[in-house]
Amino acid sequence: MCGIFGYFGHQQALPILVEGLRRLEYRGYDSTGVAVDNGNSIQTYKTVGRVADLKAVLPDEVQGTLGIAHTRWATHGGVTEVNTHPHASHNGAIHLVHNGIIENFQQLRRALASRGIECVSETDSEVLVQMMAFELEKGATPLESVQATLRRLRGTWGLCILFRDHDMMICARNGSPLIIGQGEGETFVSSDPHPLTAHTQRVVYLEDGDIAVIHPESFTITSTKGQEIEPSITVLENAWGEAELGDAPHYMYKEIYEQPDALRQCIAGRVDREMGTGRLGGMGLDHSTLVQAPHVRLLGCGTAAYAAEIGQTLIEKMGRIPAVSHISSEFRNNDTVINPKAIYLAVSQSGETADTISAIKEIKLKGGKVFGVVNVVGSTIARLCGQGVYIHSGPEQSVASTKAFTNMVAALAIFSTQLGRTRHLSKEDGRDLIHHLQQAPHLMETYFEDVGPISEAVDLLCEASSVLFLGRGLSATVAKEGALKLMELAYIPCLAYPAGEMKHGPIALLEEGSPVVIIAPNDHLKEKTLSALHEVKARGAKVILIHEKGDSIASEGDVSIAVPSIHPWLTPLLTVVPLQLMAYETALRLGRDVDRPRNLAKSVTVE
Ligand code: G6P
Repeated sequence: MCGIFGYFGHQQALPILVEGLRRLEYRGYDSTGVAVDNGNSIQTYKTVGRVADLKAVLPDEVQGTLGIAHTRWATHGGVTEVNTHPHASHNGAIHLVHNGIIENFQQLRRALASRGIECVSETDSEVLVQMMAFELEKGATPLESVQATLRRLRGTWGLCILFRDHDMMICARNGSPLIIGQGEGETFVSSDPHPLTAHTQRVVYLEDGDIAVIHPESFTITSTKGQEIEPSITVLENAWGEAELGDAPHYMYKEIYEQPDALRQCIAGRVDREMGTGRLGGMGLDHSTLVQAPHVRLLGCGTAAYAAEIGQTLIEKMGRIPAVSHISSEFRNNDTVINPKAIYLAVSQSGETADTISAIKEIKLKGGKVFGVVNVVGSTIARLCGQGVYIHSGPEQSVASTKAFTNMVAALAIFSTQLGRTRHLSKEDGRDLIHHLQQAPHLMETYFEDVGPISEAVDLLCEASSVLFLGRGLSATVAKEGALKLMELAYIPCLAYPAGEMKHGPIALLEEGSPVVIIAPNDHLKEKTLSALHEVKARGAKVILIHEKGDSIASEGDVSIAVPSIHPWLTPLLTVVPLQLMAYETALRLGRDVDRPRNLAKSVTVE
């Protein structure tokens, strides 16, 4: 979703800001803009569309070493140039970019109108810049104008603000991340770590309530009430610098094929093969917590929610205690009962998903302890939880999540083994599982040597008006993830159902030639899944079958795609890969924007 980049230093700001925007593109956006302060005036350039479109409207040179930039994902007001950030105050004295949502903006807008100040855009963000200008006109300093304005807001914000005639930039955070990067005589601000690594690895994550006054050589952080806060410097991981496309045609392609290495990163040092158990040091779980936990609840959105659902099944299978996965937004809204002794796991690639953050806060408020299962180091969820497991996928830039999914599943499998071994899981069974988990990266590589007839599957999918995905047990969740991938990338309506439930509804959709994707690894549920396959075929549907290599059921599919065999509890790590490839190839065939599907965002920072 929206992205912020800011710069104040000794170099010309514009090229640095535009490059920052380019590195924020993966988050998803619909319009973009930049403002540069040359010491006398602030020049603003905006456009609806991509950063490349913005470049086309920029003059060859814009003088100024101070500036702010933004990618907007519309929430309040349509996708228009006037709604695009930066927003300027009525007198041009202040320019601002904002991430988040101001909940009481209508009321604030009315208050401004009663003072004769009309907003020109439909956005919630513009009221902020007009309010600050009003305070400035009353004699406040820039910092005081920000403090006074923030005190009247309800909602979330990440803000970067320029004040004409003042050599400074002010930033503020409440609920929307902002990171300050300190270089040599230059300071950067960004809403995520990606654009910063090109310049510096020394960063400070602002906390909720922080206001920072930025100069090239230094910055100071104060609370809304004006108390000075000692910044805590973090050194960014190198991996965030490796996010370039290289020779790959798309980020999604690159990230699908990075899965074996990403999995190795996730597993390394976290399993004890001898004892047949997991060792997730970052969770800091002591033996008694594991033994006494009455149940586990998992939270997530989108692909992370499906990883959480697989985690639920693995925890019950290995730990033999109840586990339930929840869609974060539903969890929070349903006033769910919180048992402080239970273990709560928040699963998220970005670590910034607003619904998951709200659910975590709700659990913590009621005395529960939440552990993060997160990719982005230092992200809001990682810091909110304090303890957890980094899935170590490396940067994931394509909106559709791939390598983060398989690493979430692997991390949850390790956690389940650790939990299981403190309870009922035998050493032999634990060892067997760990052995297979360690084989998984190699098995993925084996699959990539021969991915099977993906393009034949794509022939069927491209023509379809809808696609049904079926599976049982763990594969029912893989079916959901496969359906999500195809829907979000190819814009084909997709429905995923547990195969046993197919005859209770979706069978009505089947017509001659309807494509049905069936995931049937060689587990104890395969025979039952085959019954659904026969029912589907009897209605003239075309079956795309994902099965294990060497299995005789291969002949049952109209298109059959084989993946290597693995432990039945780990099959999602392999069966999901052809579904990712099918979605990718179908989207390409249909001419879709694979890495940035329409309307979607990578980091969903609003509820
Ligand atoms: C968005 C993305 C999905 C992602 C979901 C949850 O919808 O497009 O790919 O699965 O958010 O994101 P998270 O960062 O919490 O895993």
